[in-house]
Amino acid sequence: MADGVYEVTSVLDGKLIDFAGHAARLARSLSELDMASPCSDAELLDIHRELVRLNAIDEGMIYLQVTRGNPGDRDFAYPPADTKPTLVLFTQSKPGLANAPAAKTGWRVISVPDMRWGRRDIKTVQLLYPSMAKMAAKAAGVDDAWFIEDGHITEGTSNNAYIVKGNTIITRPLSNDILHGITRAALLRLAAGAQMKVEERPFTLDEAKSADEAFITSASAFVMPVVEIDGAALSAGKVGPIATRMREIYLEEMRKAAV
Ligand code: PDD
Repeated sequence: MADGVYEVTSVLDGKLIDFAGHAARLARSLSELDMASPCSDAELLDIHRELVRLNAIDEGMIYLQVTRGNPGDRDFAYPPADTKPTLVLFTQSKPGLANAPAAKTGWRVISVPDMRWGRRDIKTVQLLYPSMAKMAAKAAGVDDAWFIEDGHITEGTSNNAYIVKGNTIITRPLSNDILHGITRAALLRLAAGAQMKVEERPFTLDEAKSADEAFITSASAFVMPVVEIDGAALSAGKVGPIATRMREIYLEEMRKAAV
């Protein structure tokens, strides 16, 4: 049933980036699926810190997954509410994550139809279509795919999508159509603090292709510039100043607030 939810939290300087945001979204995903929480947020924080320590992670990620638990039978109905959920976490060491060379050259993306289900706001482990889209991007020789629905961009395979026009950052508003990115929330807060205009509205593929800049956000890529969409180069195929500045601000502020 793909009856599980997950979170990916990044680690910089041996500390967790935006742990509170990830814990809050996990609680929301669990609640939307009537799934029991395996432990308290305080215990979850302890487990994350213990894993960082045991695996000596300086830069990298922690993957967390909660599945509903083994009811001993297959049924479309959820198993009894007292079924014990299963919690699994692992770490991935990624030295140099914050200094990823791709941030200097930017990603190239293609557009693909958004054929995912209608509750993309729940962070479920049901990721086969995003995986197919990532393979389509690889086959096209680019870095990622942006999903299109009714002519508008929803998000990337595993990230939120943005375009920039002048001093304005444009991104799709929150709804069931996209994942409520934790990096997105921080980015929008920091952009407003840096006197940038933010417009939360749907944007079309054509608008994106003729934008001044584009970028994506996710816990693992932070803020990553996008320099090409369906073969159309943005800002002459070079990484734009606003995406670069937002990446710097994001990394600086989130490092300060890491726990
Ligand atoms: N992906 N949209 C989708 C569809 C995602 O899968 C993700 C995260 C995001 C960005 O959310 P956040 O900023 O909270 O990471 C948006 C994670 C990183 C993954 O699947 O590995």
